[in-house]
Amino acid sequence: MTERINRQWLLASRPVGMVSASDFEFKQAPIPELADGQYLVRNLYISLDPTMRGWMEDRASYMPPVSIGEVMRCSTVGQVVESKNPAYAPGDIVSGLFGMQEWALGGQGFMHGTPVAEGTPLTWPLGVTGITGMTAYFGMLELGKPERGETVLVSGAAGATGSVAAQIAKLKGCRVVGIAGGPEKCAWLEEKAGLDAAIDYKSENVEERIRALCPDGVNVYFDNVAGPVLEAALANLALRARVVMCGGISGYNEEEPPAGPRNLMNVVIQRAHMQGFIIIDYVSRFPEAAAALLQWVREGKIVHQEDVQEGIENAPETFLRLFRGQNIGKQLLKLTDPIDL
Ligand SMILES: NC(=O)c1ccc[n+]([C@@H]2O[C@H](COP(=O)([O-])OP(=O)(O)OC[C@H]3O[C@@H](n4cnc5c(N)ncnc54)[C@H](OP(=O)(O)O)[C@@H]3O)[C@@H](O)[C@H]2O)c1
Repeated sequence: MTERINRQWLLASRPVGMVSASDFEFKQAPIPELADGQYLVRNLYISLDPTMRGWMEDRASYMPPVSIGEVMRCSTVGQVVESKNPAYAPGDIVSGLFGMQEWALGGQGFMHGTPVAEGTPLTWPLGVTGITGMTAYFGMLELGKPERGETVLVSGAAGATGSVAAQIAKLKGCRVVGIAGGPEKCAWLEEKAGLDAAIDYKSENVEERIRALCPDGVNVYFDNVAGPVLEAALANLALRARVVMCGGISGYNEEEPPAGPRNLMNVVIQRAHMQGFIIIDYVSRFPEAAAALLQWVREGKIVHQEDVQEGIENAPETFLRLFRGQNIGKQLLKLTDPIDL
């Protein structure tokens, strides 16, 4: 090992409203020594996920908040460089919550690595075959239950989760309409991801466009954004529609939570089923989802895109890209390449 310095980003302050780079502090720390049972991971790729915005808040959620002064929690793929744990050997590639830093000690608390199978592209376990892909898989199939010939609507459709959810519905024989921000994303959805139509929520009247594109109503709505787009979708539900509540990114940086959809009564009128979920509910079935996604991607049945920025110093700015809508597909940050060990 050449350098014994660990460059890391700590949570400096709890954001009020829109998160900014100044909510993080850049620090150089020594690489810690290994104790028995631990292993040292060198992070190769960092995953930036909207849920990290929630972890910055001091409130109860499905995971505890990150403390002020703590390394910002995030998923990474890394290489085991040293090990005092018989389950991990130098050279192994693992994914886990190893944080916004160059080096991490595995084997304690959240820091347990999942082995990455040899031959799998290093970035996939953070995206299309990882948490976002599996969120799409379980959300769409278990909650959305799309049937052949039905109409499926997906918001955040050019993102990591939405793009996979939409294509899974296509695989199930549905007519799929995606909602995304901007002409470039809409073109990608129609031309590369094979969706039947796309709506640009930044320049179009979403409620009217859904009505025009889904004249018999929406059977499955997979929601990643909430807010006005959710309201537009609820206005167009078909009888016995399923509404999959996956996320609500439009509200993540709001100081005050917005009022709920004004037309929630449509859920009653249309006898719809609206359900939220968190991907960790499905941990025991991760191998099934990862295998199915891997096969679909390898067969070219699911296309996916990654936005890969570079350099640990750019981690906060790369995180902010999610809230500016700058990413198409999975947002990642590359730190380094694996080495021969
Ligand atoms: N339930 C779970 O277990 C689970 C697991 C993973 C992710 N999620 C949720 O899934 C959603 C997507 O996550 P992801 O990781 O796949 O991220 P992503 O969709 O790849 O990236 C975020 C996208 O959100 C859109 N966005 C940002 N601000 C917005 C706003 N104010 N209104 C509408 N859209 C906005 C942007 O796309 P546009 O350019 O199209 O605006 C941006 O590219 C998030 O809500 C996340 O919290 C839930």
